[in-house]
Amino acid sequence: MASSDVITDSSIFHIFGIITVLALIFEALNRSYKFWVTHFFDSPVDLAQFGKWAIVTGSTDGIGKAIAHELAKRKINIFLISRSLEKLTKVAEEIERSYKVETKILVFDFTNFDHLPGSGDPYSVISDAMKDLEVGIMVNNVGMPTGRIDVFHKSQKPGEALSKSISNQIHCNASSRVKMMELVLPSMIARKIGLIINISSMSAAFVSPILATYAAAKRFDDTLSVSLAQEYRKHGIIIQSIRPGFVLTNMTEPLRSTPDLTFPTATNYVHHMMRTIGKTNWTNGYWPHTILGSIITTAPESMTSRFMFKKSMQAGDKLRS
Ligand SMILES: NC(=O)c1ccc[n+]([C@@H]2O[C@H](COP(=O)([O-])OP(=O)(O)OC[C@H]3O[C@@H](n4cnc5c(N)ncnc54)[C@H](OP(=O)(O)O)[C@@H]3O)[C@@H](O)[C@H]2O)c1
Repeated sequence: MASSDVITDSSIFHIFGIITVLALIFEALNRSYKFWVTHFFDSPVDLAQFGKWAIVTGSTDGIGKAIAHELAKRKINIFLISRSLEKLTKVAEEIERSYKVETKILVFDFTNFDHLPGSGDPYSVISDAMKDLEVGIMVNNVGMPTGRIDVFHKSQKPGEALSKSISNQIHCNASSRVKMMELVLPSMIARKIGLIINISSMSAAFVSPILATYAAAKRFDDTLSVSLAQEYRKHGIIIQSIRPGFVLTNMTEPLRSTPDLTFPTATNYVHHMMRTIGKTNWTNGYWPHTILGSIITTAPESMTSRFMFKKSMQAGDKLRS
């Protein structure tokens, strides 16, 4: 081999090395800039500017209820949608009394999606109920866990067919986002302003054995959000995906009963989350979750997926014992 070839090869490695190091430095600076700006400076958007009403789905407990409170605190009227009339009435009264805003409630089960012969589109009750409201903010929060924490073919709710459990979960966690956006976008486009928040999950960002159908539906939410964010930005509409890690709610209550730094209460989580609105297309909503998410997505996938499998199986076994 001629000495000039060796020099050329080593120069190429040299240049490649410098580019790699620069790319890593750029990525680290970019991540750290985003981290500080997203989590520690107030939201650049005034949430009250979008319109008089916010719709929050799954708003009688957990993250949805905390979001409804945070929005009402900013003098936005709240349209609450969940399955239980009793819980809806209680939360609506609580909000009206605390913040002196108007509320509206609707009982709706988001596992309903299909047009059944003779009964039309189940979502027509929602479009009828919101037709006279100036909806500025839509929070697609509703979500349900996997029926049973177990391997895919045993993950159905007890007494339910696997296909039924999965289609219910997909309709509630994913299809509902599409339908609700279909309902609110035309008026937001006409008014040239709007905010849509889709609550996805940190599990959307990595391989999630044992929670496969849940994580897959959440990835649908996330990809839908970040992609539509580009389509509708020119119409003055912000679409943001939120990927929470573990938050102490009814959904996670079987796993944990006391909060800590990485497993916050819904109120604490949402208090942090509100700051991140309008800054980037997606966030984890809470700085410890951003750190955890970065660690998990940077670590080798073979390691994290084995870890997730073991931890989720242990959680499932604990629930069954
Ligand atoms: N908690 C976490 O660690 C965590 C982590 C990542 C992402 N998330 C996501 O955050 C969102 C909220 O979760 P959460 O933990 O706050 O849940 P949660 O405490 O179980 O609350 C769920 C809310 O949705 C309503 N709901 C459930 N199924 C419904 C259905 N089929 N139709 C209509 N309403 C329904 C419930 O009220 P009713 O029972 O009265 O209907 C309740 O208001 C979900 O999308 C979840 O996937 C949660």
